[in-house]
Amino acid sequence: MAVDLDATQTEAMAALSAATTPEGLDAWKGAWIGGSGRLKSLMAGLKDVPKDQKPAFGKRLNELKAAIESAYEARRAEVDASAGPRGPLVDVTEPGTPVAEGCRHVLSRTIDEIVDVFGRMGFTLAEGPEVEDEWHNFTALNIPESHPARDATDNFYMGEQGGVKRLLRTQTSTVQIRAMERQKPPLKVVATGRVYRPDTHDATHYSMFHQIEGLYIDRGVSMADLKTTLVQFAKAYFGAEAEVRMRPSFFPFTEPSAEVDMKMRIKGEWKWVELGGCGMVDPNVLQAVGIDPEEWTGFAFGLGIERIAMRRYGIGDIRWLFENDARFLRQF
Ligand code: DAH
Repeated sequence: MAVDLDATQTEAMAALSAATTPEGLDAWKGAWIGGSGRLKSLMAGLKDVPKDQKPAFGKRLNELKAAIESAYEARRAEVDASAGPRGPLVDVTEPGTPVAEGCRHVLSRTIDEIVDVFGRMGFTLAEGPEVEDEWHNFTALNIPESHPARDATDNFYMGEQGGVKRLLRTQTSTVQIRAMERQKPPLKVVATGRVYRPDTHDATHYSMFHQIEGLYIDRGVSMADLKTTLVQFAKAYFGAEAEVRMRPSFFPFTEPSAEVDMKMRIKGEWKWVELGGCGMVDPNVLQAVGIDPEEWTGFAFGLGIERIAMRRYGIGDIRWLFENDARFLRQF
């Protein structure tokens, strides 16, 4: 028996290293370990080996078989790996396209925070339409027919419907009337929303802005309750050192009436800021909605949301709040 198994193994290994493609490996497999490959014929030749050499030859042959088979598996894995990925060419480690992250608008946040404070003080939320009729915007609020506040130049009139003149509301005080029509006293509500005035836009004026309105009607409500409510709000919202100042004023729907200033921290310093108006609800207003002013009294207030947010966050121009420039809005 002249077959040199060491030389055969060397030859098989050399041919295997030379196979660099999946096709080359398939060919090697067919030639060496396939059904009619070299290994098969060596096995078949075992029967012709002289009897005394058979055990040694058989053992060596088995070693050869194991060696080239495992070498084949290893080489197959290597070639498969270097042949590159199969299936779709997606690199899951590549950074994706970033999706811009949104944030709440500074005004929405301010409104939520303010409503939250009044909510804790027992005020519920009331609502009214932005397109109002003259009765809710003026008449029921004790604003006479001849009052200049009704001038066409000071309002966005929207034409008539069913003989009723409509306009974009100029104040959230309209919601006082809506709330009292809907619910008998006692009544304790706040309303927030947009109001509209034909102002020329500049750093402090815009034709649309937001107000928060408060209304409390009960037996024996006094000016002291009004002041207490405003002070509690100021301290809860602006901090324990906040203060409230009321200056005598006039509004048709309150008597007496006052302007409200609150002392808030602006860039580390406590400063007075004028925020809106307030007063005791005028008996004529109560009468307009069928509430007996002899039995019930109440207070009302209206504050400007933009004012609060602008002073609080040091926003120098009201127009920035409505330009929707993400670079500006992202700061809050
Ligand atoms: N509606 C007033 C305005 O827009 C603000 C106001 C003043 C509201 C006094 C009130 C109030 O409820 O009592 O200027």
